[in-house]
Amino acid sequence: MSDFLKRTPEPELMDELLQAEAYAAADFSEPHQHCVNTCAQRLGELTGKVLDLGCGPGDVLSRYAKANLTAQFVGVDGASVMLALAKAVMEELGLSQRVALEQHYLPSSALSGRYFDAVVSNSLLHHLNDPQVLWKTIETSGRSGARVFVMDLMRPATKAQLEALVHKYASDAPPVLFRDFRASLHAAYRLDEVKAQLAIAGLDLKVEAVSDRHLIAWGTLP
Ligand SMILES: C[S@@+](CC[C@H](N)C(=O)[O-])C[C@H]1O[C@@H](n2cnc3c(N)ncnc32)[C@H](O)[C@@H]1O
Repeated sequence: MSDFLKRTPEPELMDELLQAEAYAAADFSEPHQHCVNTCAQRLGELTGKVLDLGCGPGDVLSRYAKANLTAQFVGVDGASVMLALAKAVMEELGLSQRVALEQHYLPSSALSGRYFDAVVSNSLLHHLNDPQVLWKTIETSGRSGARVFVMDLMRPATKAQLEALVHKYASDAPPVLFRDFRASLHAAYRLDEVKAQLAIAGLDLKVEAVSDRHLIAWGTLP
């Protein structure tokens, strides 16, 4: 296909204050609750210690914490501005006792030797220039039998499809979010690319499209 859309990377960390604040203020309630609900449908209740990779300002993490009442969470992000926003969210919602936040740029040796009962991640994968950073971190930080749930954007096949999604979902968004959503769709991986990444990582996870712009990879570690 001549107008096939190639991947264009975007910066990994979201560490500009204005960018982080605009992201945190946006109403992502529909896709974020969809993420947590779809995880519950595929994997059931999360228990024990749960790691959220690329937790950002903590909206998805807080929804996981509210939906999985016995679990303890660790949210990891490389951007200090994002973690400051996440800390305020956890305090406001009374979740600070069950949600710890740690600043690490992935891959990070700070996670070595720590084994989690579940590893989740939303919208980190498309930021990574080396997607194996996510899959290797999952493999090394999940205990045997750990549940894994990753959701991310899915790159459209063509520029026209990308522009249609941008206008459908971000036409009323502030300029910084409009820019970031377009950049994120350009940077996202396609289903076949994620399947190939998992084959390289040796991870046996299922990969599915779950909306016009989202994919999931999920399952349990051996
Ligand atoms: C689009 S945000 C997603 C935040 C949150 N998971 C959500 O769904 O709202 C991606 C986050 O990943 C973080 N990030 C990107 N690359 C990273 C890396 N290599 N190590 C740690 N964090 C990273 C960014 O700083 C940003 O906060």
